Amino acid sequence: MPATAMQFDRFNALADEQAQERILAARARLGKRAVLLCHHYQRADVYRHADLTGDSLKLSRLAAQSDAEFIVFCGVHFMAEVADILSKPEQISILPDLAAGCSMADMASLAKVARCWRELEALVGDPDGLFTPVTYINSSADLKAFCGEHGGIVCTSSNAPKILEWSFARRGKVLFFPDQHLGRWSGHKMGIPLDEMAVWDPDLENGGLTAEQVRRARILLWKGFCSVHQMFQAGHILRFRNEHPAGLVISHPESNFDVCRLSDYVGSTEFIIKTIKEAAAGTRWLVGTELNLVSRLAEEVKPEGKVVQFMAPMVCMCSTMGRIDPQHLAWCLENLAEGNVVNRISVPAHEAELAKVALNRMLEAS
Ligand code: 13P
Ligand code: SF4
Repeated sequence: MPATAMQFDRFNALADEQAQERILAARARLGKRAVLLCHHYQRADVYRHADLTGDSLKLSRLAAQSDAEFIVFCGVHFMAEVADILSKPEQISILPDLAAGCSMADMASLAKVARCWRELEALVGDPDGLFTPVTYINSSADLKAFCGEHGGIVCTSSNAPKILEWSFARRGKVLFFPDQHLGRWSGHKMGIPLDEMAVWDPDLENGGLTAEQVRRARILLWKGFCSVHQMFQAGHILRFRNEHPAGLVISHPESNFDVCRLSDYVGSTEFIIKTIKEAAAGTRWLVGTELNLVSRLAEEVKPEGKVVQFMAPMVCMCSTMGRIDPQHLAWCLENLAEGNVVNRISVPAHEAELAKVALNRMLEAS
């Protein structure tokens, strides 16, 4: 066993083909000690090595069920944190590139949410009696811990309306962060009028709202969004419908309200894949989610005569997830095979315990 871990510099210069060979060799050495979990947005040259794939909910369940010593997460930081929180203490969660974050998750921090909670208290009284804090799984572990501590819960794109029902069964209002679009669409699906949802802008005093506006709102929507999904616009759907009247439209709920409203189906990445795979042969689809997923799916269903079209005219990739490339994967797998743990994601124990409370509430409710 080498005394120190191999540095990434030696792998950075590898040609893609060499990196692929070294991934395969390291995996053969590791055998069942390592499991590779891959999100659907992962680039093709990494995705091909996946043992298991899924949306955020499925991947969190898979991480909780895994017995592997190393959970190598080819996704983004919050996903590897969830894997660490839900797996057994002796298991090790790895993120091949620590820079693989989620820009939406970064739009809410514990300091800003704690400030919001204090401002709500000053505006309308003790928020612990009034609001259920709901965090989208695309958030840091300390925000999940905040929800665990304050009677709140985590949701994903596949269970958000159900989680809102759980929340409203406990308290009259919801503070939803960080994705305003998922919150708005899920509230709408529950029948909450748009004028009973208000946007909380964390960069403004009191979120930019008056006490009356907060009192009137059933859901406060944190002013966060996904930089990939914000590229999809209603006009893209209208043009498609004009050109292909029989075509079908499916979108991820991180897209804006008009895009969701104009879509035939709205759901998580796993839902999008399943819906198109199960659709009738010869159907045509316009898809509003990340490009790696859409391109892969288009190839997979082509033999059945299905046409899958990307919603935006420009490239929309999750560039942070894309940082996990074959070179980083080869680097971390070879180190693991040599007995060196690199890029471990380890949530502090107290935070993990509280975050697990909020995650388990979600897993039980969905
Ligand atoms: P899913 O849970 O639907 O895979 O979404 C995760 C995500 O980050 C979408 O941008
Ligand atoms: Fe985050 Fe958007 Fe990437 Fe999803 S697509 S991981 S929300 S930045």
